[in-house]
Amino acid sequence: MRKVSYAEFGGPEVLRLTEAEEPHAGPGRIRIAVRAAGVNPVDWRLREGQVLGAHPVELPAGVGLDAAGVVDEVGAGVRDVAPGDRVFGEGIATYAEFAVLTAWAPMPERLSFAEAAGYPSVVETALRVLREVGVRPGQTLLVSGAAGGVGSAVLQFARERGITVIGTAGAANQDYLRALGALATTYGEGWPARVRRLGRVDAALDLAGAGVIEELVELTGDPRKVVSIADLDAPRSGVRFSGTAGSVPDALAEAVGLIARGRLHLPVEKTYTLAEAAQAHRDSRAGHARGRRVILV
Ligand SMILES: NC(=O)c1ccc[n+]([C@@H]2O[C@H](COP(=O)([O-])OP(=O)(O)OC[C@H]3O[C@@H](n4cnc5c(N)ncnc54)[C@H](OP(=O)(O)O)[C@@H]3O)[C@@H](O)[C@H]2O)c1
Repeated sequence: MRKVSYAEFGGPEVLRLTEAEEPHAGPGRIRIAVRAAGVNPVDWRLREGQVLGAHPVELPAGVGLDAAGVVDEVGAGVRDVAPGDRVFGEGIATYAEFAVLTAWAPMPERLSFAEAAGYPSVVETALRVLREVGVRPGQTLLVSGAAGGVGSAVLQFARERGITVIGTAGAANQDYLRALGALATTYGEGWPARVRRLGRVDAALDLAGAGVIEELVELTGDPRKVVSIADLDAPRSGVRFSGTAGSVPDALAEAVGLIARGRLHLPVEKTYTLAEAAQAHRDSRAGHARGRRVILV
C-alpha cells in the first residue's frame, strides 16, 4: 500500500510517499481503508522532532492522527462495527491507504469522507479545553485564535452551551467568526482594548500560541481562568497548558449528535493528495487556516 512517512526529522522535504507493509488491527482496534486523513499541526510538529517528550516517535515514522474510511478488519473484542461500515476516528499513520484506528464512531450520514476526517482530534481538544477552563452558560469566553480547526469547534460547542464567545482572528476571518455565533475582533496592535469594548471576559483560551498569555491573564483577572494548548511557556504565568488528550469516543459521540442536528460543521478549507502531503504541512505551518485541511486517499 502507499503511505507517507519520514526516516529523519526535518522540514516538509523529508516526507516520502512509499510502498509499505499493510498494518493489521490488533485487539480492541480496527483497520480502515482510508478515504481521507485530517491534517493537524501536531503532524508537522512531530515531523520536525518538536514534541518528542510528550509523543515519542520511532523512525521511520508514518504521519497522521485523524481519518475517515471504511472498516475492513476488526480486532478481537471489537463489537460495535463490522467490515464495510463507514467510520471516523483517531489512529496511527493515517496518511496511507490503510490505517489502524484506536478510537472511532460511525460516520454521520450528512458528512463526506473529507469532511469527517477533519473532526476527531479537533472535537476532542475543543471539548477538553472548554471543560478545563471551567466556563459556564451565561459567561463570556475569549478565544485567541478562533478561526482554526480547534477554534471553529470551540465556538460551536460554546454556542450550544449558552456561552458567549469573543474570538480573535485575522481580518479575512471576521465574518467567519460571526457566522459561527461569536463576537469578533482582529489580533495585532491594541487588541486587548478592542476585546474590552466587546464585553467583560470571564475565561480565556489561547489556541494560537501567539504570545498573548499575559494579556489573557489581565483580561480575565486570574491565571486559573486561562488555558493554552499552544504556548509551552504558559505555566510560567500560572496558566494551565492542556496537552493530554481526553476521551475521543465521548467527544465523537457529542459531535455526532450536533452534526446530525446541523449544529456543528467544520468546513474543509483545502484538500490534497497523498503525494501533496509536504504542501499540506507547509500550508498548515503557515498558520492561517479557516477550518480544516484534509488529504484525500
Ligand atoms: N495541546 C493540545 O492538546 C493541542 C491539540 C490540538 C492543537 N494544538 C495546537 O493548537 C494550535 C491550533 O491548532 P489548530 O488545529 O486549530 O490550528 P489551525 O487550524 O492551523 O489554526 C491556526 C489558527 O491560528 C490563527 N492565528 C494565527 N496567528 C494568530 C494570532 N497572532 N492571533 C490569533 N490567532 C492567530 C489563524 O487565524 P487567522 O487565519 O485568522 O490568522 C488560524 O485560524 C496549534 O499550535 C496546535 O499545535 C494543541
